[in-house]
Amino acid sequence: MPSYTITVNNAEKTVSVDADTPLLWVLRDELGLTGAKYGCGKGLCGACTVQYKGNAIRSCTLPIAAALEENITTIEGLSADLNHPVQQAWMELDVPQCGYCQSGQIISAAALLSKNPAPTEDEINAAMAGNICRCGTYPRIRKAIQLAASKLEE
Ligand code: FES
Ligand code: FES
Repeated sequence: MPSYTITVNNAEKTVSVDADTPLLWVLRDELGLTGAKYGCGKGLCGACTVQYKGNAIRSCTLPIAAALEENITTIEGLSADLNHPVQQAWMELDVPQCGYCQSGQIISAAALLSKNPAPTEDEINAAMAGNICRCGTYPRIRKAIQLAASKLEE
């Protein structure tokens, strides 16, 4: 079995897995980072979202062999102390219900704000369209992104 070195949350990790193993399985099963969740396994729900090359990507469809170039940020590595503005806004507005989708939602929101710190409503909707929430927390998610954007302005 080939061995791969990836950088996750700014630390190098070496794993021995098949080349087509999805990044999500490497994170969860090999590295014990279970914040990114398995939802659909087909890139459709966003539960497995992590940040790679500055983008929110679906780790369930990215093979490990395609994730070697840059740091991968998971929810565990987004901030040292839950002090990322998106996490603060999420806590302030008590966004999660069951929580299953929320690490993916937060990573997508953080990726959006890192590129566009003052997004319009349409831009928020477009950026978050691929993150599904079965509990329907969408209104609180949208409000929290606006709150996080205002925190970034301060
Ligand atoms: S589990 Fe990856 S998008 Fe659904
Ligand atoms: S909070 Fe339950 S799926 Fe989103």
